[in-house]
Amino acid sequence: MKVLVTGGAGFIGRWVVKKLLHDGHSVWVLDDMSNGSPENLAEFAGNPALIVITGDIKNQTVLASLFENKFNIIIHLAANIIVQESIDNPRKVFENDVIGTFNLLEEAKKAGSRFAFMSTCMVYDTASASGAIAETHPTKAASPYAGAKLSGENMVQSYFHAYNLPIVILRPFNTYGPFQKSTGEGGVISVFIQKDLNGEDLNIYGDGTQTRDLMYVEDCADFVVRAAMSDKCSGEIVNAGLGTDVTINDLAAMICNDKERIKHVQHIHPQSEIPKLVCDRSKAKRLLGWEPKTSLAEGIGKTREFIEIH
Ligand SMILES: NC(=O)c1ccc[n+]([C@@H]2O[C@H](COP(=O)([O-])OP(=O)(O)OC[C@H]3O[C@@H](n4cnc5c(N)ncnc54)[C@H](O)[C@@H]3O)[C@@H](O)[C@H]2O)c1
Repeated sequence: MKVLVTGGAGFIGRWVVKKLLHDGHSVWVLDDMSNGSPENLAEFAGNPALIVITGDIKNQTVLASLFENKFNIIIHLAANIIVQESIDNPRKVFENDVIGTFNLLEEAKKAGSRFAFMSTCMVYDTASASGAIAETHPTKAASPYAGAKLSGENMVQSYFHAYNLPIVILRPFNTYGPFQKSTGEGGVISVFIQKDLNGEDLNIYGDGTQTRDLMYVEDCADFVVRAAMSDKCSGEIVNAGLGTDVTINDLAAMICNDKERIKHVQHIHPQSEIPKLVCDRSKAKRLLGWEPKTSLAEGIGKTREFIEIH
């Protein structure tokens, strides 16, 4: 298959590219390197099945020439992923995640390419005390990031209904692992590990009772590739996650033995915090036979090992 991966030089993208190359596909990466890096793809340098293009999904000229390649599948990962930044600068996230997605849909429609859209669990309203979040769970645009993803989802679905474009909407829960940024707005696990290794304080926003369902990145990439390739998912929204959640307090304690260094700080935007996120992944199992293989403890170990040597 000829596969275009937007955002392929980012954290999840580089693992998706790795899986696609391993499975024998020809892969094009389009990334503007705003949050990704060619170094994330260094492992595949010289592989003739990979072509990396530095370019922006908002640039219609770049897209028109790229789509002359007649891709079979588009895996659309490129997005502005920082929730906080979306609150401070909603225009940027709107233009990137909504207009950028629209530009790609237009090209996919002309080429008749299958289209996998990377949404997020952050579009969901909080889970109840007992229940996991299935795809039918109510959504809530708690931040412009979530609002832009929901807008993108709606546009993607409209191309399925109006033009019969084979699409799938993916809602992975929070993903972590090697190559995720461990500074500033990186993922919580990488940031905590880096702080622990530096002997610095681990800062938890709010009281730390908020929970997350944390999925190891190779499980996420496996899910993305399976869903993008599968006929059974056409027109569907599909979740992926570990299926269990952990409080941020417990997560910090798993990473740092020194309780004195675990601090609680004021939340900057408490209104956009989702108190409880836990994934019901039964649809992914039913449609794709997908299940995560990596436990949280194992994944934290692999991530720590990576950060230690980088
Ligand atoms: N990391 C998570 O926990 C998580 C969970 C659920 C969904 N997602 C989604 O998965 C996708 C990948 O996330 P990630 O964590 O790997 O983030 P990332 O920032 O590492 O990857 C996104 C990539 O897209 C690129 N990009 C951004 N705007 C672009 C543009 N206009 N044109 C071309 N490239 C552009 C960035 O340079 C980056 O390489 C995103 O759509 C994100 O919303 C992430």
